[in-house]
This record gives sequence, structure tokens and C-alpha cells, in this order.
Amino acid sequence: MKQENLRLTGVERHFDEDEIIVSKTDPKGRITYANDVFLRISGYSEAGLLGQPHSIIRHPDMPRCVFALMWDTIAKGREIFAYVINRAANGDHYWVLANVTPTFNPDGTIRGYHSNRRKPRREAITAAAGLYRQLRTEEDALQNRRDGMARGTATLMDLLKSQGVDYDQFVFAL
Ligand SMILES: Cc1cc2nc3c(=O)[nH]c(=O)nc-3n(C[C@H](O)[C@H](O)[C@H](O)COP(=O)(O)O)c2cc1C
Repeated sequence: MKQENLRLTGVERHFDEDEIIVSKTDPKGRITYANDVFLRISGYSEAGLLGQPHSIIRHPDMPRCVFALMWDTIAKGREIFAYVINRAANGDHYWVLANVTPTFNPDGTIRGYHSNRRKPRREAITAAAGLYRQLRTEEDALQNRRDGMARGTATLMDLLKSQGVDYDQFVFAL
């Protein structure tokens, strides 16, 4: 099904501050593990998730450029933090602060990725939602997805430059 056609309920889901939503993927982003908190919040069964691309829970409000930055960073063997809005199986949504890290084979190549997600502060969600709305508007203004993503990335980089911060500093100031 095309992402754009997925049903959304507008209902937000919550999880506790001491809970961590965990998943692991292979190097291509196919899910190899999801913990119980992931299953409960996302509304998917383990069988429905394993082997699926992680974009199965993608929410259409997420800017493409954020995932581009995520993949660019983790494929280089570095970790990244990002606020992410996800779509539950029934169309509800939930916000997370994700920390995505690579795991390595003994020879140094990337074996897969691991994401730990915690409940964000409400003010951070409000700030991220506003930023993502702006980035999506930039991206959607161009017909071609690739051009749109490049424009979103340029907007994000301009914002960091104007504030004199790098991406990590920016995320933790949200
Ligand atoms: C370990 C890991 C965790 C990820 N977690 C999420 C997630 O929670 N939500 C999401 O939309 N994408 C997540 N992604 C990114 C997806 O792989 C994908 O790039 C994204 O959903 C955008 O979909 P697209 O690349 O098909 O446009 C994750 C990727 C990795 C490697």
C-alpha cells in the first residue's frame, strides 16, 4: 500500500518514561527483533514485523531528509538521535526520541542496527512537530521526491548554520 494512502486516526499513543521501545534490523533496515513494548505500542504482532522493512511504521508527517540523515550517519558507523513520529497498525501515532546505533561484525563491517526509543518531553514533541511540518512543506513543494528531500536537507542545514550548532546540539536543544 502506498504510504500516503494509509489511514490515520489522529489519536496519540503513550508509553511510560521508564519504558524503552527496542528494535534491531539487518543492514538493509529489515526488522530482526522487536521487544514487547514495541509490539504493544505499535499494535503489530511479532510475526507481522519480523522480516519487514522498518518503514512499515513510517508516519507520513516524517520528513524524508531526517531519514536520509539517519541512514547517512549510521551507514558510516556512527550513532544518531532523532525525534520520530511513528504510525501504529490501526493508524494511531506515537512520538519517540530514538537512538539508532550500528552493530559490527568482527571484521568491522556493519552487521545491523539497533534502535532504543524513549518517551520525549512534550515541549520537544511540539518543537519537533513544528520543524517537521516546515521540512515537509519544503519537500512537498517539489514534484520529484529526490529533489524534495534535497531541499529538506538544505533547509535543515541552513537552520543549523543560522543557529551555529551541529545536528546533535540541535536535537538536544529541542
Ligand atoms: C534500527 C532502525 C530503526 C528504525 N526505526 C524507524 C522507526 O521507528 N520509524 C520509521 O519510520 N523509520 C525507522 N527507520 C528508518 C526506516 O528504515 C526507513 O528509512 C524510513 O521509515 C523511511 O522510509 P523510506 O526509506 O522507505 O522512505 C529505522 C531504521 C533503522 C536502521
